[in-house]
Amino acid sequence: MFRIAPSILAADFARLGAEIEDVKNGGADWLHVDVMDGRFVPNISVGIPVVASIRKATDMFLDVHLMIVEPVKYAARFCDAGADLVSFHVEADSPEGITAAVEAVKAKGKKVGIVLKPATPAGAAAPWLKSVDLVLVMTVEPGFGGQSFMADMLPKIRELRAMMDRVNPECILETDGGIDVTTAPLAAAAGCGMAVAGSAVFRAADRAAAIRAIRESAEKNKQ
Ligand code: DX5
Ligand code: ZN
Repeated sequence: MFRIAPSILAADFARLGAEIEDVKNGGADWLHVDVMDGRFVPNISVGIPVVASIRKATDMFLDVHLMIVEPVKYAARFCDAGADLVSFHVEADSPEGITAAVEAVKAKGKKVGIVLKPATPAGAAAPWLKSVDLVLVMTVEPGFGGQSFMADMLPKIRELRAMMDRVNPECILETDGGIDVTTAPLAAAAGCGMAVAGSAVFRAADRAAAIRAIRESAEKNKQ
């Protein structure tokens, strides 16, 4: 089944516990937490203490997306705070630094993912495809919720899925940015099995209905 990870970036942070409970009861598969450092992206969001508080408040699978420079410096601490999966950008450090971050997360016994910005070609993921659990494709420029889906990322999604099928077929391909009932089917048809959705879930009055509608729209177009 096509899986949905609501991004808390679009939630009401003053009532975060209730917001998380709402999407959990609404059938969300994972919870997506966007961490921004004001350097890798031109915005600042939440960090380690917030992940630790969320961990105490819910048993949901926490998909922590680091938009920070040199992720190896903090990856293990996000694991200790309670992340179930930590992903970071291949553009955020040297290849050696990215490999070290992958190893740091694995050493903590957590799942690990790599993320590609829109301008980064599929081939940039190749060195880590065998060793990661997830590849996250940005379908907006990272840094802000509520942007429009970049349909020109669809060929890259297809290419990545084909590359992953050759070396690591179990690896999850997730899309992040501008996902709603119109764009989830496009991502699903291109090979994504999972999507992050911020505004389309948290800005909806009925979150359960929003999650169901996105999932059903994608299921109809799944590869
Ligand atoms: C953007 C974040 C996304 C964002 C998605 O940098 O990585 O996870 O919250 O928000 P929507 O679904 O509103 O595009
Ligand atoms: Zn994200």
